[in-house]
Amino acid sequence: MKISAVKGFRDVLPEESARWSWIERTARTLFARYHYDEIRLPVAEKAALFGRSIGEFSDIVEKEMYTFEDRDGTRLALRPEGTASVVRAYVEHSIYVKNPEAKFYYIGPMFRRERPQKGRYRQFHQIGVEAFGREDPVLDAEVILLVADLLDELAVERAWFELNSLGCSACRPRFREAVRKFGERLGERLCENCRRRLGGNPLRILDCKEEACRAATENAPSLPEFWCEACREHFSRVRELVSAEGIAFRENPRLVRGLDYYCRTAFEVLAAGLGAQNAIGGGGRYDGLVEALGGPDVPAVGVALGIERLAMVAGPHPEPGGVEVFVAPVGRPAEKAAQGLAHRLRRAGVRVEMESGDRSLRSQMRRAHREGARFTLIVGEEELADGAATVRDMVAKRDFRRSVPLGGDAETVLTALRRLGGGESAKTGGS
Ligand code: HAM
Repeated sequence: MKISAVKGFRDVLPEESARWSWIERTARTLFARYHYDEIRLPVAEKAALFGRSIGEFSDIVEKEMYTFEDRDGTRLALRPEGTASVVRAYVEHSIYVKNPEAKFYYIGPMFRRERPQKGRYRQFHQIGVEAFGREDPVLDAEVILLVADLLDELAVERAWFELNSLGCSACRPRFREAVRKFGERLGERLCENCRRRLGGNPLRILDCKEEACRAATENAPSLPEFWCEACREHFSRVRELVSAEGIAFRENPRLVRGLDYYCRTAFEVLAAGLGAQNAIGGGGRYDGLVEALGGPDVPAVGVALGIERLAMVAGPHPEPGGVEVFVAPVGRPAEKAAQGLAHRLRRAGVRVEMESGDRSLRSQMRRAHREGARFTLIVGEEELADGAATVRDMVAKRDFRRSVPLGGDAETVLTALRRLGGGESAKTGGS
């Protein structure tokens, strides 16, 4: 019986993973320019970490986490996101002592048991950054600019930011209370989910996707009216700094995010053409989280982007991939010399494919063609006797009989190929 992959868990086959590699490489290079260092985190954590950070009443913790009991009885969870783990590590390794303003990035799988659909999986992958130690709006703007640059480098078109401020511990409780009271008055007009949320997480009724809830909450209390002076000033500076760089954003006072740790700046990155799952990223400030997880009172801000969704909206990736040189031994005695040639070229950085000498030349040539090789080096009986491989120029469809020395070093071989190919190197189409 065939065993298939688990629902919502998928394979990333080479064609797609080449795109992922490009996305990840682009992100790494960019993050280095913004002075973020990589942190690699475990995929399993104690389940309590996520209850204390994302929130006991969040959908993620209530319904979507993969939790299990370890053999010693500890409750573990496959991480549903990266922020909580980064903060745990920041506290656990006392990073705040040596480098309180540390800036990290991470790339890796996350797990949420959501209903799978286009762009939504149970194992998905995030690229995220987290910056600690500063509450100034310059850092919020930096994170937004960094995302804008990444989208630019990945040629993502038709993407925009939605921006809000969730207030702080001084002003948000009043807003929360107002929304809760408002929601209670709505009673049955709210969906069951929202009625349940009123107790633990009332703000979520503001971004419920149900049409009836949207209509019912149209006149809900508006966050901006509740901001304290410090939050108002902070948000206005974030907007100014982001606008100064020409970043397009829409203010959305109903944006509350599904994770409880945010305060002040909260944002999402949306893209056209993705259907219902149109958020390619989300982030914001979480000034109280380090302390809530046992560290000192250190502010922080960050963002995470979904790689699956980025891959769907990014432009064509520039990597050629494939094979540059194909080496075709004809008959077993030719294999050693052919392998030597292939090995030297590979060590010199050329992408080479080589077959077994048992295969006919015809079938090897078909394969070379299929792989898109620029040149094929044929090593048969005569080539062995003369100590030189025959070169087939796959573009010009011409053979140069015994024109490349079998014992030649990679540079000699490549120079010969360049000459035979009329200046083109073995690298596909390059020079
Ligand atoms: P989040 O909004 O839950 O934020 O997730 C960020 C991004 O991960 C989403 O915008 C989406 O692109 C992707 N994503 C989430 N769930 C799925 C899924 N089931 N399938 C595919 N992609 C998905 C966070 O996770 C926060 N930790 C972000 C953050 C970092 N805030 C501060 N620092």
